[in-house]
Amino acid sequence: MSGKTFYVTTPIYYPSGKLHIGHTYTTVAADAISRFKRFTGYDVRFLTGTDEHGQKIQKTAEGKGMQPKEYLDGMIEDIKKLWETMEISYDDFIRTTEDRHKDAVQKIFKKLYEKGDIYKSHYEGWYCTPCESFWTETQLLEGNKCPDCGREAQLAKEEAYFFKLSNYKDRLIEYYEKNPDFCFPEARKNEMLSNFLNENLEDLCVSRTTFDWGIKVPFDEKHVVYVWLDALCNYITALGYMSDDESHFNKYWPADVHIVGKEIVRFHSIIWPAILMALDLPLPKQIFGHGWILFGDDKMSKSKGNIVYPEPLIERYGIDSLKYFLLREFTFGKDGNYTNRNFLGRLNSDLANDLGNLVSRTVTMIQKYSDSKLPSPKASGGFHDELKAVANGVHIEFEKAMNALQFSDGLESIWKLVRRSNKYIDETMPWALAKEEDKKDELDTVLYNLGEAIRMIGVLISPLMHVTSGKIFDQLGIKGQEGILSWESVKEFGKMPEGSVVSKGEILFPRLDVEEEIKALEEIFTPKEEAAKPIEHKEEITIDDFAKIELRVGTIKEASKHPKADKLLVFKIQVGSEERQIVSGVAKFYKPEELEGKNVVVVCNLKPVKLRGVESQGMILAAYNDDDSKLELVSVSDIENGCEVS
Ligand code: MSP
Repeated sequence: MSGKTFYVTTPIYYPSGKLHIGHTYTTVAADAISRFKRFTGYDVRFLTGTDEHGQKIQKTAEGKGMQPKEYLDGMIEDIKKLWETMEISYDDFIRTTEDRHKDAVQKIFKKLYEKGDIYKSHYEGWYCTPCESFWTETQLLEGNKCPDCGREAQLAKEEAYFFKLSNYKDRLIEYYEKNPDFCFPEARKNEMLSNFLNENLEDLCVSRTTFDWGIKVPFDEKHVVYVWLDALCNYITALGYMSDDESHFNKYWPADVHIVGKEIVRFHSIIWPAILMALDLPLPKQIFGHGWILFGDDKMSKSKGNIVYPEPLIERYGIDSLKYFLLREFTFGKDGNYTNRNFLGRLNSDLANDLGNLVSRTVTMIQKYSDSKLPSPKASGGFHDELKAVANGVHIEFEKAMNALQFSDGLESIWKLVRRSNKYIDETMPWALAKEEDKKDELDTVLYNLGEAIRMIGVLISPLMHVTSGKIFDQLGIKGQEGILSWESVKEFGKMPEGSVVSKGEILFPRLDVEEEIKALEEIFTPKEEAAKPIEHKEEITIDDFAKIELRVGTIKEASKHPKADKLLVFKIQVGSEERQIVSGVAKFYKPEELEGKNVVVVCNLKPVKLRGVESQGMILAAYNDDDSKLELVSVSDIENGCEVS
């Protein structure tokens, strides 16, 4: 290893829903650059993870009747499984609920407070819960809509801590001037300068008191640290900053690049550098804001039913097909549109026709005309030299594109060689050469050159499509021969050992029937009609199991709003001689006053739990639509409270 380091990060994803191909896009890009840098001799640190605090996560868990941690553990397992399926080569996965992160964030908060960069005051303004963002009234759209996501923001007033962001405005502008590639691409930088830095940069509210699912402010525990401050710090807490062992931090910080979607560039290129300046730490070398993958010109969203998930695509077409498409189809930095037709078109033209065909034709010809052994090249000039010239130039263009995170250009530079090789077959017509005795030297040369071109292609694509390159090396009989699979080995044509024994493997990319596949994908991705959904039954229980549940009629004496959670109501319920307090998530469907006097069915022997700080001694039964659009409490009219229900 050369001693050169490279630190790259993805955003830490919100585990509030299943990740879709938009999230996969960022991670695939970070994986590609990590693998490329490792391949070219760097000591790479690739960090990803999950952003687990904040009101949105708390509400999502609550909506599912779960404690946040319980909900999160399941979601994180799914995310890690996805990265495992995709063979993402991250070195560390940070969860913001881990102690190593929480402890360091508390220390960072305290340090900033002691330095005077954080101070206590009052916050009054608008908050968008889904984006976990504060907005001033002038920034809102149509009166009360969040300018990022268009959803309604809520008016909030509370005691809060503030970060002196305004103090850093001049230093930030100066930093942008001296480091023109810091915020990249250029369009994002200009947007930051004109929309934020050249405007009035206000201090940032960095604590909340209206919910408690977060990292506590160490010296004032009714406050939790604002999720974005908490989340951004992951990039240094994961390296051990402010822990007992700062060796990774000393080795890898500052990051070479934080790869993020364009909607969160603002947090990364204004707030994050200001925090780092306040901590007297060097700034990351680059914030790369890539574009969005749109679906039919629209942002993917669950409510619009236009989300594309990676799993079915991987299952049907393999990891490399999806990775190739994501990296090749879109210009990194610009928005792009996903359609099933674009996706399948790429697979057919670039993978099945160009690459797959080249490998399969070459291996078949070496088998047929050279007894499966790679012959030695004897001729030169003409088409042979043209092919070599293209092959020898690829690594230069490829490296340049990769270092600029222009994956599409990088792949295109390799595909120039793929296409040139196919053309070389058409030009030299090995099947015709094989028929003429005196063309043996020419034929051997063509077969060797093709074998070598494929080796170079296999090596070059290895950081981006390692599964396919493994299959190519297998077919060429060179698996494990480190020297000819290295980055150095693609700098000069002719490294392929003569006499290598080729063997035909499975077809790399089968040709697809696009119309058939479009139908299949539409079937997979179109949300199903509710009625068609089969009921998922729970595990069977015996009558004795059922008898363990104590159900009784209860009369609602009092109902009131939960002090801390909009979705919850707090009930006082008379069950025979006892009065119980029960917290229930029905606020969206009932006003407290309309429930008083109602006879409901209560689960009496449920272990009490605290829901957002209020004790709940049991549960009220309710029936609800699957999509949560309607809910009715199960009620009885003429039976006295305290009576059993069975
Ligand atoms: N938790 C914050 C990030 C904190 S980083 C300190 C967050 N999480 S997120 O789950 O919403 O993920 C956002 C990231 O996912 C985007 O920045 C982008 O990288 C990726 N994408 C999500 N949807 C996307 C598309 N439709 N297209 C491309 N990338 C998208 O924000």
